[in-house]
Amino acid sequence: MTRSSEAQNHEEEGDAKMLGRLWKWSAAALGCVVLALVLTSTAPLGQEKQEKIPRVRGRCQVCHRDEAIEWAKSGHAKAWTSEAFALTTNNRNQKECLSCHAPDKILVTGFGKEPKLRSEMVELGVDCVACHQDANDAQHGKVGRVTDAHPTVKNEKFASVEMCASCHAKFGTVDEWKQTKWASDPESCTHCHMPKITRKIAITSQKEEETRVHTFLGAHPEMFKKGVKVETNVDGGNLVVKLTSVEVGHNFPTGIDHVVAIVDVRLLSDGQEALKHQTMLADDRARGGSDTRLKPGETREIVVPLQGKKGEAVIRILHKSARDLPDEKATLLFETKVAVQ
Ligand code: HEC
Ligand code: HEC
Ligand code: HEC
Ligand code: HEC
Ligand code: HEC
Repeated sequence: MTRSSEAQNHEEEGDAKMLGRLWKWSAAALGCVVLALVLTSTAPLGQEKQEKIPRVRGRCQVCHRDEAIEWAKSGHAKAWTSEAFALTTNNRNQKECLSCHAPDKILVTGFGKEPKLRSEMVELGVDCVACHQDANDAQHGKVGRVTDAHPTVKNEKFASVEMCASCHAKFGTVDEWKQTKWASDPESCTHCHMPKITRKIAITSQKEEETRVHTFLGAHPEMFKKGVKVETNVDGGNLVVKLTSVEVGHNFPTGIDHVVAIVDVRLLSDGQEALKHQTMLADDRARGGSDTRLKPGETREIVVPLQGKKGEAVIRILHKSARDLPDEKATLLFETKVAVQ
């Protein structure tokens, strides 16, 4: 057996013990009938969820499977390992860039203050412990649930913009949000980015209740569709792409100025590319240019001269986490086709 698989087996034994202990506690509280129910209901649980359960710092995944599976798909989980981050920080060697991408507990530094770089398991990026755990290893949340599994603290500031601002204020997102109609809701980052879902808080919970999805979708086709309306039409020899920001609580795109969006238009005639036109939406102020990002509520018309050519126009909206990444590595947020006669 290799060293790492030995270590893994050891950890899994530990996980089983942790759960065993919890079940004993719930049994003590609720009687053996409940214990039997819990034990029989766990066997199919593992099978019905085919998705791999990631291992996280603090082993939260043992009891909070859904949150762990969702978080593993989020940008937060990739904050340290992403190609864009490596590319823009000289392979994570730029000291002033690291703290928010592998933060220590923000409940220790305080909401609204820039976190400190942690010294362990940096590859997990913005993880459960960084957001939820305080100096005494208690888990903070908004419910205030008492459990034997770990201490909890009911924290009214949890899920607030102030909490997200610890990392999301530095590059302008919170200031942009302050100018919008959503600023009257002090939890609006969470309301747009962590939709509600009814399920058990922990796998041993007795009942389902309202919780929040942990995928933190941002630059994603689903979010883009909700946030930005795209209309296209051919008019007087031009193709016009009209973008309206309807439900984005900040600029599109938002964040550090490495992040850009691109409106990419191609005209295909007889299978050949007859025309290519790109418009970048980016904050170029530090590069001596202007800020061309789409503001909340704004409508922008991008006019592409067709030069008398005919065929099929393909309109794509791309999102790059770093402008120096090649187009093939961009996220495709939107695509549509228009016939040009
Ligand atoms: C041994 C199982 C177990 C482990 C491991 C565990 N939890 Fe929990 N956790 C629970 C249970 C049980 C509850 C209460 C659920 C209920 O009342 O329905 C809970 C509640 C919570 C809550 C809700 C707090 C509130 O507002 O009331 C949060 C947040 C939380 N856990 C986070 C974490 C994090 C983060 C980790 C890892 C660092 C973790 N938990 C590890 C079992 C566990
Ligand atoms: C400890 C720092 C930190 C905190 C606190 C934090 N974030 Fe983030 N967030 C990041 C970093 C770093 C990224 C960039 C990750 C990446 O894509 O590589 C990010 C990315 C995101 C994204 C974009 C994901 C994508 O794939 O486009 C969303 C949405 C987001 N965060 C929402 C939130 C919300 C809502 C809160 C508050 C509940 C919050 N964040 C709190 C550091 C943080
Ligand atoms: C960027 C910060 C952030 C990260 C990272 C994060 N959470 Fe949360 N978590 C929140 C917020 C905000 C809430 C919502 C609180 C509310 O409104 O009730 C929440 C809620 C919860 C709850 C209460 C039930 C629910 O789903 O709403 C649990 C349990 C929980 N998180 C566990 C985890 C675990 C486990 C991880 C890691 C796999 C994790 N969280 C990662 C911010 C975070
Ligand atoms: C009204 C809903 C709404 C609110 C409020 C909102 N967002 Fe967003 N956010 C969106 C939509 C829609 C997108 C997808 C479009 C985009 O990429 O900008 C998005 C994208 C993002 C992204 C990915 C950015 C990118 O474009 O690369 C981050 C990061 C983010 N939001 C953070 C936040 C933070 C932090 C807050 C609170 C200050 C917040 N959002 C408030 C709707 C919202
Ligand atoms: C104050 C916290 C903080 C610091 C410091 C920080 N970042 Fe980030 N970074 C974020 C957050 C939050 C996001 C997600 C939204 C955005 O783009 O601002 C992010 C996103 C990114 C992204 C795009 C997402 C991705 O794929 O990782 C890159 C690239 C990036 N940062 C590079 C840097 C560089 C380069 C520096 C140093 C100049 C830096 N960051 C310093 C908080 C921080």
